Amino acid sequence: MIVTPITAHRGLSSLAPENTLSALRLAAEHGVQWVEIDAIACGDGTIVMWHDNSVDRCSDGSGAMSQHSAQSIKQLDCGSWFSEQYRGETMATIEEAILLIKELGLGLNLEFKLYENSVETVVAPVLALLNQHWENFDKLIISSFDQPALEYCHSQQPELQLAKLYEKIPDNWLQQMQAINAVTCHCDYSVLQQSQVAELHLAGYEVYCYTPNDTSAVEQHWEWGIEGIITDYPQKFQQHLGTSTDSDSSAGSHCETE
Ligand code: G3P
Ligand code: MG
Repeated sequence: MIVTPITAHRGLSSLAPENTLSALRLAAEHGVQWVEIDAIACGDGTIVMWHDNSVDRCSDGSGAMSQHSAQSIKQLDCGSWFSEQYRGETMATIEEAILLIKELGLGLNLEFKLYENSVETVVAPVLALLNQHWENFDKLIISSFDQPALEYCHSQQPELQLAKLYEKIPDNWLQQMQAINAVTCHCDYSVLQQSQVAELHLAGYEVYCYTPNDTSAVEQHWEWGIEGIITDYPQKFQQHLGTSTDSDSSAGSHCETE
């Protein structure tokens, strides 16, 4: 169902600041077909493309997301922490991100992170935006570690393609996956076992691995039959898997996401 084995994690986050419009554009320029981004809420209810529950690590500002608003986030420099080239990059709202990803023709893996917020606060407004702007729902996966977020999506729009995220896969994984009629399971490659891949496949689920950043890290996983990876370094895997459309895929790398 996902038509590419490679998804760019937080955009092309090894070459541009993670979860920024630049990282999305760069993914498209490198021929990546799908991007993963995180969606979280600010204090005023604005939903932004951002990973952490504070602005400290990836901007020149400080403070919890709950202290920020649509106005204050736009004052932050979200690029110079990564490199001078990206000084002045601003935090994007999730609406800006959705519109750009659609314009670029990419598939979207949108991950909800609730942190201390309610499902209604974080998920409901994003579903409304997707229904307003998104056209090809075959090219949309909603993913989350938060079971209530996925259950809400399933109850509101049963046709949505949902992915359950796990670090360590719990004993009740099948119950959780069935409750949301999941299509895929997204697992931490570093703890995933061959037997778990087999069980997931037997139950009818596709298996994706986050976040391998070296091709050697998932050699075995491909042999186990995983469908794809979510990586900061799609350029390495494109070369390795022979899917590169990028003339400069040897371009240098900057850093790995935390
Ligand atoms: O979607 C996979 C991955 O993004 C999950 O972990 O913390 O990078 O959002 P994280
Ligand atoms: Mg994520």
